Formats: sequence, C-alpha cells, structure tokens
Amino acid sequence: MNIIVTGGAGFIGSNFIFYVLKKHPKDRIICLDCLTYAGNLSTLAPVMNQPNFRFVKLDICDRQGVYKIFEEEHPDVVVNFAAESHVDRSIENPEIFLQTNIIGTSVLMDACRKYGIRRYHQVSTDEVYGDLPLDRPDLFFHEDTPIHTSSPYSTSKASADLLVMAYHRTYGLPVTVSRCSNNYGPYQFPEKLIPLMIANALADKPLPVYGEGLNVRDWLYVEDHCKAIDMILHNGTVGEVYNIGGHNEMKNIDIVKLICKYLQKPESLIEHVQDRKGHDMRYAIDPTKIHDELGWLPETMFKDGIRLTIQWYLDNRKWWENIVNGEYQNYYNEMYGKKGL
Ligand SMILES: NC(=O)c1ccc[n+]([C@@H]2O[C@H](COP(=O)([O-])OP(=O)(O)OC[C@H]3O[C@@H](n4cnc5c(N)ncnc54)[C@H](O)[C@@H]3O)[C@@H](O)[C@H]2O)c1
Repeated sequence: MNIIVTGGAGFIGSNFIFYVLKKHPKDRIICLDCLTYAGNLSTLAPVMNQPNFRFVKLDICDRQGVYKIFEEEHPDVVVNFAAESHVDRSIENPEIFLQTNIIGTSVLMDACRKYGIRRYHQVSTDEVYGDLPLDRPDLFFHEDTPIHTSSPYSTSKASADLLVMAYHRTYGLPVTVSRCSNNYGPYQFPEKLIPLMIANALADKPLPVYGEGLNVRDWLYVEDHCKAIDMILHNGTVGEVYNIGGHNEMKNIDIVKLICKYLQKPESLIEHVQDRKGHDMRYAIDPTKIHDELGWLPETMFKDGIRLTIQWYLDNRKWWENIVNGEYQNYYNEMYGKKGL
C-alpha cells in the first residue's frame, strides 16, 4: 500500500510510521508535515533513507501542494495525524487550530475525492466528548456519546470529525475515525504533561501542576494506539467511529508523584499553578467496540509503559534537550536547506 501519513514528524505520527514500516515492510509511506514547532524532523532520521519512505515538507492546507503529491504518489490510504494539538495553545490562539484541524482536513478529503482512495482515516481524540464528573466512575465515553466540547482544540477536532462523516454520507468517501485517550511514550514533545515533568525533574526545576492535579485522564502507551489504527485500516468498517482507550485512569498529581519516585526527586518540586480555563475533569473511554469487532486490546500496562517512557527520555536526552534549547529547528535546514527542498 501507498500510505500518506500527515503530521508524521510529531509524536504519534512518527511512532505510527515506525510501527507500519516494521510491521508491513512492503508498504510505502509518504509523510506530509509542515514542521510547526511540534514537528521534529530529526525524529524521522532512522527511516529517512529507507527507499519506501519519503518526507515532504507541506502544509495540509496547501491545496495545490496536496493535489500535486496525490498526482505523484497515487496513495491508497491517508492517515491524518496533522493537527495543532496543545489545548493551552488553543486557548491563547484558536485560529490556527481551526485552520489546520478543520480546513486542512477538508483539503485532504477533497484530494481523496478528486483522485480516489481506498481509505481516509481521521485520528481524533476523546476530548470531543467533553468531560465526565469525578464522582461517577461508572460513566464512560461510547462512540455514540454526544459531542460536547470544552476547548477550541477539542471543538476543532470535533468539527473535523463531523466533516469527515459528512464526506462519507454526502460523497461516499470511504472514511474511518478513531477517538483515542491520552497517549504517552517516546518522542512526545516536552510541553505535554509526562515529558515536561520528566525534563523538569531531571533539571531539578519546579513541576507545575494545574490546580490540585485531581483531573483524571485515561493513559495509553503510544504503540498500542498505533496498533489500533493499523487494525482499523485493515479490518475496520467504513463509515464507523472507533474509541481507543487503555482503561487506565490516573490523576495528574499521581502521575507526577510517580515520575518523582522513579527519578528519585523530591515531591517538594511540585508547584500548584492556577488551573487551566475550562479544564475538563475526567476522560474515560469505553473501547468495547474495537475489542469486539477487531480484537484490539492494549498490551502495555501503565506500570511498564511509564518505566519504558522514563528510560527512553533518560537514554535520549539529546532529542529533548535540542527541543528545549531550540536546536531541533535547525535540523531541517541541515538536512534539506542546501538542496532547496
Ligand atoms: N497526544 C495525544 O495524547 C493524543 C490523543 C488523542 C488524539 N490525538 C490526536 O493525534 C494526532 C497527533 O497528535 P500528536 O500528539 O502526535 O501531535 P503533535 O503536536 O506531536 O504533532 C503534530 C504534527 O502535525 C504537524 N502539523 C501541524 N500542522 C500542520 C499542517 N498544517 N500541515 C502539516 N503538518 C502539520 C506538526 O508539525 C507535527 O509534526 C492529532 O490529530 C491529535 O489531535 C493526540
């Protein structure tokens, strides 16, 4: 298969590229990524010279650029990871979220309609369902839970989901959508909770926790997410939404304390800061459908996944230190600048 993976220089997209190239070595991947602050080309260094991999620096909102790639590559499948993904940034500046997450999605799907496609897959989030109260542990998000968003980020993702389903109904585009809970693992940008806490703890810097840190998230190891998307691409039913979650709910504060414990740092580094505006209390996914229909189950227990993740950040200090000091943004010029790409 020829697969276009958008946003592949980011956290989950890069892990997905590694997963697919290993699992299906005959597939070819064309990664489209415009390398925002969250895109790090050095992440893709291990596959950059593989003959069945091509990187193209491209904004998914660039219609002519996207059409040109479809003409050159005749993709069978598009998996759209490209997004502005940080809730705090969406509160500061919503517009870029609407542009990339909604308009970018429509451009990709227009290309799929124009050139034909076997599958368009939209990578979405459990945040489209809003939040659940802390005192109702019996409640979970199902695929038919009404969309009820809180932040400009989740609203832009929900809008994209609705657009994807509309393209299926109106134009018969063969789409699938997955809505996943919080991911953690290697190559996550150190502005997100787990890598931020690891990086700050290693530098003996304060560990900023919103409010009391009681917000609950359902954490999934990134490779389990990649496996679920791969299963949906191969065996999922067109026109369907699949929830993906780890049944692994943790309070933010407990995660931070765990990181302190593993790194042997004092909890006195924890600093409670003013809560995020509109902060969702609890997310919890019911993944019964993907389990029953496709046989997917998370394989990595949180206690193992968090150890693997912390160890990865210890073993790959240069990767995240280059992000913290801004050096990573020079990598593209070093790789491609002279070739004028
Ligand atoms: N991280 C999570 O826990 C999580 C959970 C559920 C769903 N998701 C979804 O998964 C997807 C990937 O998330 P992530 O955490 O890897 O994000 P990320 O921020 O790490 O990566 C996003 C990537 O998209 C690229 N990008 C942004 N705008 C672009 C544009 N206009 N054109 C081309 N490329 C562009 C960036 O350069 C970056 O490489 C997102 O759609 C997100 O909503 C994430």
